[in-house]
Amino acid sequence: MQGDTEGAVPEQAFIPDRVLIEDLQVRLARARKVAVLSGAGISAESGVPTFRGSGGLWQGRRAEELATPEAFNRDPKLVWEFYDYRRRALSELSPNPAHIALAGLAEKLIDRDAKEGGLTIITQNVDGLHRSAGSKALLELHGNIWRVRCTGCGAVTENRDVPIEILPYCRLSPCKELLRPDIVWFGEMLPEGIFEEACRVAAAADIMLIIGTSGVVQPAASLAGYARAGGAYLIEINPEKTPLSESMDQSITAKAAQLLPLII
Ligand code: OAD
Repeated sequence: MQGDTEGAVPEQAFIPDRVLIEDLQVRLARARKVAVLSGAGISAESGVPTFRGSGGLWQGRRAEELATPEAFNRDPKLVWEFYDYRRRALSELSPNPAHIALAGLAEKLIDRDAKEGGLTIITQNVDGLHRSAGSKALLELHGNIWRVRCTGCGAVTENRDVPIEILPYCRLSPCKELLRPDIVWFGEMLPEGIFEEACRVAAAADIMLIIGTSGVVQPAASLAGYARAGGAYLIEINPEKTPLSESMDQSITAKAAQLLPLII
């Protein structure tokens, strides 16, 4: 027993299981292809609220009420104010040790395999934090909050304005139509081809890490099944159990930023 705190374990304390950690280290050290499916939970320790946790509301509204094409058609100013709020908040935040550990693992796999793509991150997050951490092989299934798309000509451009002009218009003459966030809203299709690519990555993986996702949003959650069918070893990292937990080889109850630096 360490210290003199009369046995009290602080709520945040994380006590890793040595045997488990070593097993995961060995598996990752042997892997050639690793797929990661990440969700909002991986950014929780950077300070980004999850969707289904507390703190996911803006002005009493749920994301499902604002992140829809119907909401944007009805009141684009309100929707842009919501995204401006999220962009301002995100501009203050940084990648956490979980994002950074994954970027480091990608580098190790490149060294091992002498090519890029040994580790591919398939993320449902739009916050851009994997990219900020240095990850390059990245499939952003739901888009990216730092890109805008013209509702007229469809052109997609990076836009890091904080605050962003409300309402922003396309500057690519002669279009000048309203811009929208380049994000997949509820009820919309994923960008063309991206899910097929994610399926290929999942099916080719030796290991899939499923990190910080509630596993209830399709088609992302189904990628675990593609990885399983391809023979991957499935590892979930989440402080809560999810509908995916039972089908995992390892379902580890832990926070991503605490566990990932230990196993990578
Ligand atoms: P959710 O908010 O549904 O789930 C977040 C998950 O992260 C939960 O299972 C938490 O238990 C877990 N979690 C919380 N803190 C964590 C930590 N420190 N480390 C690891 N896990 C942690 O978010 P998603 O599953 O990403 O879609 O939601 C998927 C999609 O639903 C989002 O991309 C969004 C939303 O509707 C669109 O906007 C299209």
